[in-house]
Amino acid sequence: MHHFAYKNGVLHAEDVPLPQLAAQVGTPFYCYSSATLTRHYQVFRSSFGSADVSVHYAVKANCNAAVLRTLASLGSGFDVVSGGELRLALQAGAKPSQIVFSGVGKTAEELRLAVDLGIGQVNVESESELNTLSAIAASAGRKIRIALRVNPDVDAGTHAKITTGRKEDKFGINWTLAPALYRKAKALPGLDPRAIAVHIGSQITNLKPFEDAFLRVRDLALMLRNDGIDIDHLDLGGGLGVPYDFATDPPPPPADYGAMVQRVFGNLGCHLSFEPGRLIVGNAGILVAKVVVLKVGTAKTFAVLDAGMNDLVRPAMYDAHHDIIPVREPSAGTSRTDYDVVGPVCESSDRFASNRALPVLKEGDLVAFLTAGAYGAAMSSTYNARPLIPEVLVDGGKWAVVRRRPSFEEMTALDQLPSWLG
Ligand code: LLP
Repeated sequence: MHHFAYKNGVLHAEDVPLPQLAAQVGTPFYCYSSATLTRHYQVFRSSFGSADVSVHYAVKANCNAAVLRTLASLGSGFDVVSGGELRLALQAGAKPSQIVFSGVGKTAEELRLAVDLGIGQVNVESESELNTLSAIAASAGRKIRIALRVNPDVDAGTHAKITTGRKEDKFGINWTLAPALYRKAKALPGLDPRAIAVHIGSQITNLKPFEDAFLRVRDLALMLRNDGIDIDHLDLGGGLGVPYDFATDPPPPPADYGAMVQRVFGNLGCHLSFEPGRLIVGNAGILVAKVVVLKVGTAKTFAVLDAGMNDLVRPAMYDAHHDIIPVREPSAGTSRTDYDVVGPVCESSDRFASNRALPVLKEGDLVAFLTAGAYGAAMSSTYNARPLIPEVLVDGGKWAVVRRRPSFEEMTALDQLPSWLG
């Protein structure tokens, strides 16, 4: 469910017509819906009944300051994976106690920042990190709650590049090695090992792998309690998928996920926390682009857009599907043509869709990529010296540019010539 729909023949973001935004902001641009963000946060938050839960939005999915502020104002906590994301979460208005620090390669500087700020929890991913964090916390005279992020060796059944919970993946600590490390953590100064964390991947469309992983976490919690380690916090990660292709089966609704979570953990007496990213922002954002060139080849008809893989890398990187729709509503019976929808970047992988049947396009037409709010702007780059594109936030009939398009000078401002070339 999202708030992008045709009204009076043109696609709107809530009450704002997208052609008006395109005329004022220029294409391409990302557009986010406050109502959709709010709805997704609330639907997810309320899918666990009376269980004691907290939601820590995964900043990596979309780190725009206005998106973060919207979620902070709803009471969301944040899951961060770098010192930069930690600062963004604080700027958004989060309390340090609402922040969870994940990530496989945290530096000592980042851990020091987390300790000095007194953040809620660090999810430790290796014995080396355990030692470093203990030394930093002890020398600061602090005790910090930690989880070990366990790797449950469960295949999430998602794209290979976004699966994280198999034993050959770099993430987490193999669950069979965890008990010994918890015992070690308990004996180390500065650490309060009361939590277990798990995250097995992203865009997961089946509850079974979640449940398999969660059952291992429950068994581990019981085993650790028997060992005298008082586990009372479980961080169950993110990863619940969203519908990208409205023509295929939808992923399970959050309510079914919530019911499964309660079934597995209902009587354990633990606080449960979650780190959803895509589920909150995926359908809350679209990418609007213009058709620059239509090119009829001998094998294909190409619609070349002014947005490229540098603006939305998911199709090139994960063969991801995004629905593409015209901003002007096609009239009933409009004929369709198969297009390869591509960008202007000098790479053959700069292809958003192959043989996609779309209503006949003209040069200058606007199109919208749906479900582009997660891992869209956040993963964009200036490849081919293309400036980052603007982001716009809509709230009812109001809209604002929440990241502007940099000038050429701003884009290149950090480059400098060495003296011998000056
Ligand atoms: N927690 C941890 C520890 C994570 O690594 C991730 C995502 C999340 C939470 C949030 O997962 P979500 O709820 O968004 O699925 N760029 C890829 C997705 C990479 C996900 C990385 N980790 C894509 O565009 O599909």
